[in-house]
Amino acid sequence: MRKPMSFLTRSTAAAILGGTVLFLCQPAYSAAILEGERMHPVEARNGMVVTSHFLATQSALEVLEQGGNAIDAAVTAAFSLAVTQPRSGNIGGGGFMLLSSEQKDEVVAIDYREKAPSKATFDMFLDEKGDADSNRSRFSHLAAGVPGTVAGLALALEKYGTISLQQAIAPAIKLAEEGFIVTPRFSKGLKEREKRLKKWDSSTKIFYKADGGYYEPGDLFVQKELADTLKRISAHGIKEFYEGKTAELLVAEMKKHGGLISMDDMKNYSPVIRKPVQGAYRGYDIFSMSPPSSGGAHVVQILNILEGYDIGGSGHNSAQTIHLMAEAMKRAYADRSKYLGDEDFVQVPLKGITSKKYADQLRKEINLEKATASKTIAPGAPQPYESNETTHFSIVDKYGNAVSNTYTINFSYGSGIVVDGAGFLLNNEMDDFSSKPGVPNAYGLLGGEANKVEANKRMLSSMSPTIVKKDGKNFLVTGSPGGSRIITTTLQVIMNVIDHGLNIKSAVAAPRIHHQWLPDEIRIEEGLSPDTIQGLEEKGHKVVRKSSMGAIQSIMVKDGMMYGGADPRRSTALAAGM
Ligand code: GLY
Repeated sequence: MRKPMSFLTRSTAAAILGGTVLFLCQPAYSAAILEGERMHPVEARNGMVVTSHFLATQSALEVLEQGGNAIDAAVTAAFSLAVTQPRSGNIGGGGFMLLSSEQKDEVVAIDYREKAPSKATFDMFLDEKGDADSNRSRFSHLAAGVPGTVAGLALALEKYGTISLQQAIAPAIKLAEEGFIVTPRFSKGLKEREKRLKKWDSSTKIFYKADGGYYEPGDLFVQKELADTLKRISAHGIKEFYEGKTAELLVAEMKKHGGLISMDDMKNYSPVIRKPVQGAYRGYDIFSMSPPSSGGAHVVQILNILEGYDIGGSGHNSAQTIHLMAEAMKRAYADRSKYLGDEDFVQVPLKGITSKKYADQLRKEINLEKATASKTIAPGAPQPYESNETTHFSIVDKYGNAVSNTYTINFSYGSGIVVDGAGFLLNNEMDDFSSKPGVPNAYGLLGGEANKVEANKRMLSSMSPTIVKKDGKNFLVTGSPGGSRIITTTLQVIMNVIDHGLNIKSAVAAPRIHHQWLPDEIRIEEGLSPDTIQGLEEKGHKVVRKSSMGAIQSIMVKDGMMYGGADPRRSTALAAGM
């Protein structure tokens, strides 16, 4: 049996765990700037890993300690999360990796988003009456896009890594084969999603005991089928996943239940290296994810609008600051609904959306004192200068590389369907397409023609892995899960650091707000004062308090030190450095 956390005996600093284990070690280095702060990030000088699961952090940190770089550690973390956090870590899904390579002096975005199968059609999720059938797009075999994770991680390793795929998968195989101790969060998640998972025998046998009972905190959770799949990939490379036995098992699953993914779809899948969206905010350079994600475009667009105000002077989470943020967010999400989609299929006016000039124009529509009703906001006209459950981790190494990776199977446990014999869950990412223009998806996001279902197309995402640089050096590495809230969560951590001067732990932990144009409401977390809420209501905003948003695992690099901020919204998240 693996001994959780036994690695944290040296100078590594760590603090976590919803009641399971608590380790508080002496930080390796102290930094005077943090004296007297209310919250403290983990501090280190030679490498930092922040993931949503302590065992993935452990696997990745070991790679850094053995001299591997951030990309090696990232691929190791991603495979480990696929074992320890099956609700979102995945090999049956896809995602985006933004990486800054010191050696190659470039920031690139690896797009390993799932693709629609070649037999997908624009009306595949419409019922006989022409209405969107969300059961089909979320909980059937039709919901799955062709998985991209294995190919994307392998590409990252091949181009930017220094270890072999076998080395990167080894810790994941061990975790799957020998098992790991169930945490309260893991146990609770499976209880909450029992209905979805128990619809399928292939899922039931993995996630529930032989008598149908629950895994409780403290139990050992072993995944033999997944271990075998990972061993096959380790032995034969990604070809095995896309053309070998794993592909055959996935396609057999499709054939048995009316899914569309074929052997050709698997064989033809390839990840793409893209140019990140780039912007500038108060002297910092922002690099974030390009389409098929809307994340980078709108993080930059909202920052551009807000740059015209004295946000720092208005104060953190004051009514005035939140008012301005909400007004900027509304306009960005309205544009998202019309213009964003897979750039391989549609022209996205990216330059226009992210231009300072367009932001100036949108800012003129914002009333400093009164909320603009969303129904009066239409998608704008950016100049055509040219055409809930996801998981994020951030890693930096001593060589100057940084990785910001967000990947997903969409919902918690994706479609709920495990590929029989292969032991991993299928994504339900097809629901991120607009099944019917004007009908919201699971996150209440509206989409248009640009994001309609088409064969081999990538569905629009909000995932926003982001790297912020100052004077050419990595400054902030951040990103989050959270569906439509990903963009605004990422935005707020950037603002909390740049505008409000918070350290990275405080920036990550601070209460968040969100507006996505429709519904016309500001969603808030607990922690805003009643008079802030009253101030917003007096300006005409509807304010609703809902559950927490995002889980943003972030790193700040400053003056030769690395500061890790794990999001307290995830009880298993861990920042650890060396
Ligand atoms: N599935 C959520 C997203 O990609 O935005």
